[in-house]
Parts: sequence; structure tokens; C-alpha cells
Amino acid sequence: MPFNHQHVVVERGTRSGFPIVVAVHSTALGPAIGGCRLAVYGDWRDGLDDALRLSAAMTSKAALAGLPHGGGKTVVALPSAGTFDRRAVLHDVADVVEALGGVYSTGPDVGTGPDDMAVIGERTGHVFCRPSGSGDSSPATAAGVMAALRAVVQNRFGSAELAGRSFAVLGVGRVGAHLVRLLTAAGARVLASDVDGSRRTVAEAHGATWTDPLTCRTAEVDVLVPAALGGVLTATTVPALRCAAVAGPANNQLDAPATADLLHGRGILWAPDVVVSAGGIIHAIASELHHESPSQVAARITGIGDTLAGILEAARETGVTPAAAASRLAGFLAEPPAALAPV
Ligand code: PHE
Repeated sequence: MPFNHQHVVVERGTRSGFPIVVAVHSTALGPAIGGCRLAVYGDWRDGLDDALRLSAAMTSKAALAGLPHGGGKTVVALPSAGTFDRRAVLHDVADVVEALGGVYSTGPDVGTGPDDMAVIGERTGHVFCRPSGSGDSSPATAAGVMAALRAVVQNRFGSAELAGRSFAVLGVGRVGAHLVRLLTAAGARVLASDVDGSRRTVAEAHGATWTDPLTCRTAEVDVLVPAALGGVLTATTVPALRCAAVAGPANNQLDAPATADLLHGRGILWAPDVVVSAGGIIHAIASELHHESPSQVAARITGIGDTLAGILEAARETGVTPAAAASRLAGFLAEPPAALAPV
């Protein structure tokens, strides 16, 4: 891929010894934002790759969400699944973020939560979602996904009604668990799975039918909802899908851009994850930075449905994939303002 990141830092954490990667993709619209991912990588270079892709996606996500920010991401590449000194790692992250001087602010992501943000906050102010700030962003992310799902079923089936529709939720973590609850409450039929079998209790408590990840991914449902790690849609998995649409909060669901064409070719509607998953950053940034009221923030999050509806409509009208329509719009929005002509 072409190198188009503004700034990438890879440092050996002074306390933990782990590779800390902070990728700042763009600050064209404003300071970069993006969460801190703590995950095991066989090779730290895979963590670097992830940070590069995820930070670029954050630029599109912020632009499409109407936020005056660019995209960034932190990845701590853990060498193994063993135990480690969490505070040491988080302080290492904080030092790297602080050294960037505000060009980038971090937040929660896969493997981190509000309490971790409080620890990072002991050493830098450039952090969102502390319990003393806007806190857990997962209810807001889930609310945004619900708005997106209504837009998807409206586009696909001609009605935004979720009652009676079927959903397969892949991943019952923080956001996935809220989704299962909201979907069953809306009268939908929900199948759920997670690689972590201990999530079964919460899924069933919220009224979902539990199954294994493969059955869930290939279930005959109206909408497949990826709510865990990325890369779930590939040239191998797409031919086995039996859903009418795919829409969920997992970041980077496509393994490669061309996979959007495979989905399109199969007549499966794919809602771009950069639009669907924006509820968390909208909630954090609108409430912490712009001091908007809860109802203003909620209105912005509901707006995700309108943005997605517009993208799906534009895709249909111009005969391109929703992915292409979203990236066209994101590119347009993230374009730095044209320089004034010299007088
Ligand atoms: N994990 C969030 C995302 O991918 C990142 C984030 C959330 C950053 C909230 C800041 C505040 O969108």
C-alpha cells in the first residue's frame, strides 16, 4: 500500500519492553483521534500493519461522522497471551501519546476500557473516555449500530422495522452484548456467538440463541452483524454467507478492498464499518470536547442512520458498491480546505 500516513511512531516501551505503535494518519481536519488496541500478534510487524490500516479508517470514520478530527490508532503488540504488568504498558502508551504533544488523542479499543484510560490519564491529558470523562463508549457505539441497522433493513426490505427480522451477532463483547439486548428488545430474532464461550451466559440472558462462530457467520439471516475483530469478510468467507446484508461495529471487516466487490456480486448489501461504528467517537468527542448535551449527542448518533442511508442511495444511483460510495464521500470531506489563491 502507498505510504500516506502523516506520522508513525514505533517505540519499545521503556517499562514493558513491548512494541508500542502510534500511527497518525491525518490531521487535515483537526487533531487525530483513535483508540488504543492491546492484542497479541505473532509478529510485531502485524501490529504495525494493523495500526496503519486502522488509523486510516479512523480518518474516514471521523470525516463521515462530521467531526473536525483526523484518524490515528495505537497498537500494543503483545508477544504472547501471558500475564503482563498492565499499568506499565499503559504508562508506556501514555508517554508516547504525550510526546506527540496533542497531535493525537487516544481512547478505548479492542482490549482496553475506561479504567485503562484513567491509567493513561495519569501521564497525559490526550485521552478520551475516562470514567471521570465520557466513560464507556460502548452503549453509544451500539446505539449508532442500531440506527445503521434500521437504515440497512429499510434499504434492503423497504421498511425500517426491526421486529420479526433476523440477525446473527458475531462477537458478544462490550458492544456486541448491547446489540443483542437492543435487538431482542426491538422484537428481532437473534443468533449470537463468540470465540470466548463464557459470553454465552450474557447472550442467552438477553434472549439470543447461542451457536458456534462458523454457524453464526454462515447462518441464513437478514443481517450478519460483525462485532468482534476485523478481517471477517474474505474471498473464502464471502461465498459461504447466507445473509442478505452485513452491518456491524467491527473495524476493518474487509480483508482487502476488492472483497466489497465480491459481496456486491453476491447481492449482499455491505454497510461500510467506518460509518456504522462511529457512535463511540461521536459520543466521546461531542460530549468531552464540544460539551454537547446528551440529547444533542443522541441526535448526532441517530444521524449515522441518515448518513448511511445517503451512502446506500448514492451507491445504488451511481452503480458502485457502498464501500466505494463511502470512500468517495470520506475523501471529499477529509480534503483539506483549498488554499486561498494568492492576490
Ligand atoms: N475504538 C474506537 C473506534 O474505533 C476509538 C475511540 C472511541 C476513540 C472513543 C476515542 C473515543 O472508533
